[in-house]
Amino acid sequence: PQNVGILAVEIYFPKRYVDQAELEKFDGVSTGRYTIGLGQTRMGFCDDREDVNSIALTTVQNLTEKYNISYKDIGYLEVGTETIIDKSKSVKSVLMQLFTESGNTDVGGIDSKNACYGGTNALFNALNWVESSSWDGRYALVVAADIAVYASGPARPTGGAGCVALLIGKDAPIVFDRGLRATHMIHTWDFYKPDLSSEFPVVDGQLSNSCYLKSLDVCYNRYVEKLIAKEQIERPTINYFDYMLFHAPYCKLVQKSYARLFYNDFVYNSEDPCFKDVQQFKNMNAEESLQSKELEKAFIGVSKPSYTKKVLPYLMAATQVGNMYCASLYICLATLLSNVAPEELLGKRVGMFSYGSGLASSFFSFQIVKPIDQIHKILDIKNRLDSRVKSSPEKFNEVMLLREETHNKNDFDVVGDGSSVEEAFFKGTYYLEKIDEKWRRFYKRR
Ligand code: ACO
Repeated sequence: PQNVGILAVEIYFPKRYVDQAELEKFDGVSTGRYTIGLGQTRMGFCDDREDVNSIALTTVQNLTEKYNISYKDIGYLEVGTETIIDKSKSVKSVLMQLFTESGNTDVGGIDSKNACYGGTNALFNALNWVESSSWDGRYALVVAADIAVYASGPARPTGGAGCVALLIGKDAPIVFDRGLRATHMIHTWDFYKPDLSSEFPVVDGQLSNSCYLKSLDVCYNRYVEKLIAKEQIERPTINYFDYMLFHAPYCKLVQKSYARLFYNDFVYNSEDPCFKDVQQFKNMNAEESLQSKELEKAFIGVSKPSYTKKVLPYLMAATQVGNMYCASLYICLATLLSNVAPEELLGKRVGMFSYGSGLASSFFSFQIVKPIDQIHKILDIKNRLDSRVKSSPEKFNEVMLLREETHNKNDFDVVGDGSSVEEAFFKGTYYLEKIDEKWRRFYKRR
């Protein structure tokens, strides 16, 4: 099949959010620490009526309804998540209840896990399936979903929650470049979840930042090498891409990452006129370059005009909802499709960087080859973000405590934090009603 890629996109984020400036005050930290230091303006959160199954159910059902897709026509479904609520039963198997009425049980794929990388692995598997001898002509569906919550402390404001579903097939308007996946995977302990009784990760924040940036260096250079070999061209620069999307744990890291790509171009060709003001960094070695705050600042300066056009506008959901782990890179993709006029996107090339702690990372790309008017219209991200409801930091805290209390609990009616279904959920949202004595979960839809 030709032009294998994305045919439809649907997203989900919680209806309630906390304002990061208000959270700074409430937490007693310096003004600007979360909003400027991390680049986060709001954070989406959900009470214990939502889990990874419910947000995935919501997104998949909404996608099929909005794009009028029959469950019969889906032959592969894979979920990327690190929100583990069951050591055996997959989220994918829970999603199969949506297929019941169609009678279709011939659906390959299962869950993929490695921190924020599971969604990317699910996407690669779905693309591979469509390109393989196993393909039977039907669609593949990729679901990237997570609820990101941290223990109180400096990591807590980098939480969030969300889900993205991507319908994959042939003759798509959004086509992934073949032969241009660059991957870097090694063993690290930067972020992991060894305590199965808790939702919280064990995280070495500074280590995770440096692992992220080092992986970006490796993947970008590897991608460029593959690109040169495939296209038989001179080494291109980051200007090769019209837009650049990143896994966004918090937006400040994305700005540093984009600057880092300019630094990688500088290492290869420091003579480029755009680097005339940063010549002092010419002889710095790779390890030093990752430590140097002066270098980071200088390259943030060099890359800023480009960042403002090619990256920043597509962080709108990332800054307003927060980290969605597996869904985080893909919400940036959805924001690009939603916030740029379809005619402007036509013919454009987009770079993507995916990172999951532990670690797994990839740099890859796609092009928009046909108009995406329907996707653009359905996503409507700005209005959806604006239609959310603000909660106080006190409420946010109360809900975090509630999630801790009921995590792993069975045999109870899940009533949430006392807010009504209308207050807590958008229309069409699935939510937990009950976990029975055998830990079986029952959902209802608003
Ligand atoms: N005004 C403006 N900026 C401020 C203020 C303020 N009042 N206070 C602090 N800052 C700046 C700091 O100068 C620093 O800037 P820099 O990054 O340019 O050096 C920045 O805010 C962060 O402050 P730090 O003290 O370095 O770190 P902090 O203790 O706030 O923790 C961290 C940040 C490590 C990201 C933490 O939130 C965390 O552990 N998050 C989870 C892990 C994570 O997201 N890792 C990313 C990749 S892995 C993944 O996806 C999970």
